[in-house]
Amino acid sequence: MSTPRITVVGSSNVDIVVKADHIPRPGETVIGGDFVMVPGGKGANQAVCAAKLGADVTLVARVGDDAFGRMSLENFEKSGVRTDYVIVDREHPSGIALIAVDSRGENAIVVAPGANHALSPADVDKAKSAIAESSVLVVQLEIPAETVQRAIELAKSLGIRVILNPAPIRPLSRELLAQVDVLVPNEHEAAYLVGEDSSEHLDPKRAARQLRELGVANVIITLGSAGVLVATDSAESLIEAFKVEAVDTTAAGDAFTGALACAIAEGSAIMEAAKFAAKVAAISVTRMGAQTSMPSREEVNNWSF
Ligand code: ATP
Ligand code: RIB
Repeated sequence: MSTPRITVVGSSNVDIVVKADHIPRPGETVIGGDFVMVPGGKGANQAVCAAKLGADVTLVARVGDDAFGRMSLENFEKSGVRTDYVIVDREHPSGIALIAVDSRGENAIVVAPGANHALSPADVDKAKSAIAESSVLVVQLEIPAETVQRAIELAKSLGIRVILNPAPIRPLSRELLAQVDVLVPNEHEAAYLVGEDSSEHLDPKRAARQLRELGVANVIITLGSAGVLVATDSAESLIEAFKVEAVDTTAAGDAFTGALACAIAEGSAIMEAAKFAAKVAAISVTRMGAQTSMPSREEVNNWSF
């Protein structure tokens, strides 16, 4: 099997993480543990995940000309992510995410986007040859809307499959959704996209059908420890999550999306790819941090639940 090629267009942050008993309510101060600083950002996390699983990954992103940007670049190189289209932005600082993680491994995140908000359609155009050589393009929503649109349009014009992880959620046009081959929302994002006020009473099967009616070819709704709902032309199925002790669920969705992209680029069918991705994501929640939690292919192969 030749090495699968993937291009990820997305954000790169440095995550500043503190674990505490609970996440502070508005106005509350909570004393937590030591802080850790790790490379994060949805696009970069997904790129690192797929590269550690063995894919040949090109990342299109912007980092600041600062210590945070250098930390991210070092980790891309260590993980084998191609950085030819990672721009060092001299005008904007690196993206930063402030993350509180509670005793159950759940988190609350505030992102200062910095250079991510300067990632432009022209930056995507420069990576055209990398996209053309990929079998899958992966994109999320931590970068400007016009950049997401350009990446998807370019990939489709080149006949490349598109995986969209619509996080953090914002309105998406029908035209854009119709160009997506695999949409990977979590339950909150799925609820938003089908016009529900909250995910409290979300019926994932119905939501997936509604999203498919909007023109998305395949829908995979991630449901945290409840697993994933996969809806394709030929099947609709709930894949249960692997049973693990959650330490930090930050980037579980990114581990899932990166692994899904890797498996699809290798030629797996969507259902099989989703099972592999659920395994990779489960391993990632047993570890602290975003990119620090992504397992290698060998670790996935040897992992027993
Ligand atoms: P995040 O925003 O923290 O990256 P998310 O909300 O996008 O995550 P989730 O639905 O929480 O994504 O998780 C993605 C996938 O990771 C799940 O569908 C599941 O397969 C796996 N996963 C998440 N949490 C757990 C858990 N506690 N135990 C096992 N698997 C989990
Ligand atoms: O999905 C997790 C990521 O969201 C974190 O790494 C943080 O940087 C935010 O972008």
